[in-house]
Amino acid sequence: MKTIDELLAGGVAGKRVFVRADLNVPLDGTTITDDGRIRAVLPTVKALADAGARVVVASHLGRPKGTPDPAFSLAPAATRLGELLGADVRFATDTVGESARATVAELTDGQVAVVENLRFNAGETAKDDAERAAFADRLAELADVYVGDGFGAVHRKHASVYDLPGKLPHYAGHLIATEVGVLKKLTDEVERPYVVVLGGAKVSDKLGVIDHLLEKADRILIGGGMAYTFLKAQGHEVGISLLQEDQVPAVKEYMKRAEERGVEFVFPVDVLVSAEFPDLKTKAPAHPTTVAATAIPADQEGLDIGPETRKLYASKLADAATVFWNGPMGVFEHPDYAEGTKAVAQALLDSPAFTVVGGGDSAAAVRLLGFDEKAFGHISTGGGASLEYLEGKTLPGLAALED
Ligand code: 3PG
Repeated sequence: MKTIDELLAGGVAGKRVFVRADLNVPLDGTTITDDGRIRAVLPTVKALADAGARVVVASHLGRPKGTPDPAFSLAPAATRLGELLGADVRFATDTVGESARATVAELTDGQVAVVENLRFNAGETAKDDAERAAFADRLAELADVYVGDGFGAVHRKHASVYDLPGKLPHYAGHLIATEVGVLKKLTDEVERPYVVVLGGAKVSDKLGVIDHLLEKADRILIGGGMAYTFLKAQGHEVGISLLQEDQVPAVKEYMKRAEERGVEFVFPVDVLVSAEFPDLKTKAPAHPTTVAATAIPADQEGLDIGPETRKLYASKLADAATVFWNGPMGVFEHPDYAEGTKAVAQALLDSPAFTVVGGGDSAAAVRLLGFDEKAFGHISTGGGASLEYLEGKTLPGLAALED
């Protein structure tokens, strides 16, 4: 994989460089609630602009349905990129139309433009190869060189991620190079004990990675909504907690394989429960109660790991040499259910291990809960992408940069 360093060494002044970024940031209206992904692409954009390139930044945001939808405009991200760069960033109100072409044509050396959300064009995500290729052809007209730096989207076989690199000289940006370097440490050269913490809502999203980690990890701690499917698989009632009943057989199978392989699975011993899901807007006090994980009342749902589990998980992380964490332990957006996620973040900080936080949600949680992100070994910008990498899958956006 050629990197941006080679591109810069050859000189890029005056060249139009298309940077496929992942500016898919969480928005509250037009307010960006976590700008981590924009900051993560800054080194690439800045290096290119400083070297005199005419930089065209493109990304998706959310999942619009192939037509323009103002709720998913990249305009706020373009503004924030300009603030962070300390430079005027132009914004094209379409992806490959008149505005994009004119905006790119007017760029001078060292200037940066952002084009509108790539998913406003159905060709970006089309399953049909020809439709995707046609959109990629139009994107290719906007640039002389392609730099892939949207790590969070490399698992998507989309026009700007997979097809476009084949149409232009292509390089990996600084972010992709860093992310891949870190994930290699979790696959090829892992230092042991290797402890993995998995949370989040759905166990079905994590089955692939659990399958793979059973061959790699020494210990797997389970939290978040997915824990209740594991508790159910152990024969416990989980009240009205999140449950994927259809996944119980798969989970039982994994628990059996873990035992055979000597991988330690660790589950919550207590949980915070309530009869109602908390109000995340008003954040009104939720008054949860703590119960044993084996005694969740029939009319209550588990919304965070409890105090004993927090201690247990901290102790299970204390001797780790490598930690990968994906997915919050509870509804961390509400202060009454944030302690579990905070405790895991703190345990990672207290540990001398190489710690990788993977995923949009857990990365955002770390920042929203006020932790210093620099204190972690690495905070990945990719949720699905980092999980699929760890599953050992070929990621289209990385494969396209290889040749
Ligand atoms: C993400 O948020 O994980 C990436 O930006 C990819 O977004 P997607 O899941 O909508 O493709």
